[in-house]
Amino acid sequence: MRISIFGTGYVGVVSGACLLKDGHEIVGVDPVVAKVADLSQGHSPVQEPGVAALLAEGHRTNRLKATSEASEAVNGSDMVWICVGTPSKADGSISLSAIQTVTKQIGQALRDSRSRPLLVLRSTCLPGTTTNHVIPLLQDESGLTVGKDINVAYHPEFLREGTAVRDFYDPPKIVVGEAQRGAADLLLNLYEKYEAPRFRLELAEAEMVKYCDNLFHALKITFANEIAAVAKSADVDARKVAEVFCADTKLNISSHYLRPGFAFGGSCLPKDLRAIQRLASLKSLHLPMLQSILESNEAQIGSLVERILTHRPRAVGMVGLAFKPNTDDMRESPYVTVAKALIGEGIELRIYDPTVQPDRLIGSNKEQVKKALRHLEELLVESPEDLSAVDLIVVNHPIVDADCIGHWLEAGIGVLDLADIKGVNRHAGGYEGIYW
Ligand SMILES: NC(=O)c1ccc[n+]([C@@H]2O[C@H](COP(=O)([O-])OP(=O)(O)OC[C@H]3O[C@@H](n4cnc5c(N)ncnc54)[C@H](O)[C@@H]3O)[C@@H](O)[C@H]2O)c1
Repeated sequence: MRISIFGTGYVGVVSGACLLKDGHEIVGVDPVVAKVADLSQGHSPVQEPGVAALLAEGHRTNRLKATSEASEAVNGSDMVWICVGTPSKADGSISLSAIQTVTKQIGQALRDSRSRPLLVLRSTCLPGTTTNHVIPLLQDESGLTVGKDINVAYHPEFLREGTAVRDFYDPPKIVVGEAQRGAADLLLNLYEKYEAPRFRLELAEAEMVKYCDNLFHALKITFANEIAAVAKSADVDARKVAEVFCADTKLNISSHYLRPGFAFGGSCLPKDLRAIQRLASLKSLHLPMLQSILESNEAQIGSLVERILTHRPRAVGMVGLAFKPNTDDMRESPYVTVAKALIGEGIELRIYDPTVQPDRLIGSNKEQVKKALRHLEELLVESPEDLSAVDLIVVNHPIVDADCIGHWLEAGIGVLDLADIKGVNRHAGGYEGIYW
């Protein structure tokens, strides 16, 4: 394939070099004359292990070109990749100016060309950018209609500088966002022989995936360093703690606790966070990330209560009261906090949680829940059917099924789903997922 790459920085050059090795023809496009000159001679404008040799071989076999002329690159290309920078502006937002410039250039080149390459955006940009900025601009400038005359895909890049060539050939995943189903077929063909899970998403989903990854990486590093600071302050070798932490691939380095849903609670997590916060404060450690976890959790609870109140319900049903399913432990349960807040707002509450049996509660569990919900016995109902006289049902635990939710919706009762109940018709009137 002939692939033009607009933006010959780290992403553009590494991608180009690796695609050359796969046998493709590459045209690098950049306004920086020195970069075009380098590439034209088969030299790399960036320092990255392995890239120089790949570019040299591409140049030797006459499959590497470089230019500052968009039309020269677009004409005859099967794909056009946009790999220009999206740097931070002073207010933290990203600058789309390079993306706009190249989209305009590509659009104008297309107007005068019979080529209809697939346009692939690789620069990191916020969800909605391709749909709201790139596609309209491309259509305006080219006079073409996306989805009819030409296709557009968003294709986030996951390589790491320093190991970028290895990462390109052994990616953690291949993600494409499509304006229409099938738009990225040509792009996926390119990776036919690559072993990696593939994901076809909507454009904005693919854009968001990239931020999710990068923010998590930043969070991981910050977490490791803040935990290390606590360990060191207690004369503990932080490396040993990290080694054991990472060895646990069941609960720690795994997909556990990483699904969207509601706040955490229970007798351990809040207590242990408070203990480490207190220790940090006694040792004068500044740990903004650890210190903000409880605050963030409380914000989740507060926003759920506000969201319920926007429905102006007279009566609310709750499915699940314990801090998680299959236990009657209500200590620091976020659902108890929500229930208490709703009662405080004068809302009539009905709660279904078959594991919670008031006459069998003991110790601190009983003490804490009774303090928050004095008339717990009167709030609890015996079956999901007993919730049918409310205006809104908040499903905290996955202990009711899609049929049950379907009946409530048919009866005109709103459902706010925190538990991602499988099989529910998410488009049914009255249904809301907490984050979907
Ligand atoms: N560097 C990484 O490790 C990495 C990894 C994944 C994603 N990304 C994202 O990819 C994008 C590119 O990152 P990068 O590190 O390669 O940036 P970079 O700054 O190294 O390269 C950007 C290139 O775009 C060129 N450019 C600017 N305006 C242009 C125009 N009008 N026409 C053609 N070229 C133009 C610049 O001259 C430069 O060569 C960014 O959005 C970045 O967030 C970067």
